[in-house]
Amino acid sequence: MAIPALFKNKLSLPVICAPMFLVSSPKLVISACKNGIVGSFPSFNARTQDLLDTWLSQIRSELDEHIATNPEGPVAPFAVNLVVHPSNTRLSSDRAVVKKHQVPFVITSQGNPAEVVEEVHQWGGLVFHDVIRADHAKKAIQAGVDGIIIVTAGAGGHAGEINPFALVREIREFWNGPLALAGAINDGMGVRAAEVLGADFSYMGTRFIATEEAEVEGDYKTMLVDAQVSDLIYTDTFTGVKCNFLKPSIARAGVDLTKFTAKTHVDLDLGESNAWKDFWSAGHGVAGIKHVLPMTELVAQLKEEYRSAVATPAFSSASK
Ligand SMILES: Cc1cc2nc3c(=O)[nH]c(=O)nc-3n(C[C@H](O)[C@H](O)[C@H](O)COP(=O)(O)O)c2cc1C
Repeated sequence: MAIPALFKNKLSLPVICAPMFLVSSPKLVISACKNGIVGSFPSFNARTQDLLDTWLSQIRSELDEHIATNPEGPVAPFAVNLVVHPSNTRLSSDRAVVKKHQVPFVITSQGNPAEVVEEVHQWGGLVFHDVIRADHAKKAIQAGVDGIIIVTAGAGGHAGEINPFALVREIREFWNGPLALAGAINDGMGVRAAEVLGADFSYMGTRFIATEEAEVEGDYKTMLVDAQVSDLIYTDTFTGVKCNFLKPSIARAGVDLTKFTAKTHVDLDLGESNAWKDFWSAGHGVAGIKHVLPMTELVAQLKEEYRSAVATPAFSSASK
């Protein structure tokens, strides 16, 4: 297992609160970091570079202040997610702001991270790249990334289609470095299971939407609490890339999917997109979400579940 120095003594759990379009805001990021889990957001969520600049200043100053008054910590580092797909017209301007703030941790997705890696390494930052297949992981490793995030079947957002048991083990055959696992990890048992499987971090998205700090419509949170896996649809209709959406949010928006004109090309230029505003994404973990909790309470619950999972004895034939 490989935990980079950036995270040493700064985490209360090996968890990254994953970047989520239109969901992750400074409030969610700061509350995650203050509770000892990595907070992150996609650069897109700040609608302009000026706002991105303001957000990064705010996150840094609030965390620095918190560290000064709570020196015992742990306070986790924060991350910015950059979509490196060629359709992202904001990439170079967002990179300039990320460079100005020397963001310690950058998460790249949907393309070739090589240029971002070269740049972020200049100030000693780390780059993890998210992948849904082993060959993508090999390319990211060649590009020099510091860590791999495996997004598996059942994840919220642009989920993969491969089972986590299969993909973690396949990637561990050629990658000894930091590895994060995403896909329906909802509780401390899942966090421990990910470690046993070979991941260093759990990359959790959907569960954190149902927190008081997530700045989304209340109906979205209620829908997560009420939803079952059967309430999800995995479709490429809206962005040209397969993604899990809550069917009740599509019905709420008055859209009949059978009559909807699907995207014929991959379009990840989310800058002005409305699709994600009306159609809400969630992973298979929805069935395990029973309450909207404050971040502090959710992290305390995750820690308790993790502790009890760690204490679970291994199988022993002598006990049979
Ligand atoms: C509403 C929503 C928006 C997302 N937006 C992004 C994004 O902008 N960039 C990205 O790399 N991943 C995005 N994701 C994927 C998450 O970063 C993460 O991989 C996923 O949520 C993990 O699976 P889980 O939701 O089952 O925990 C999004 C996920 C959700 C649920």
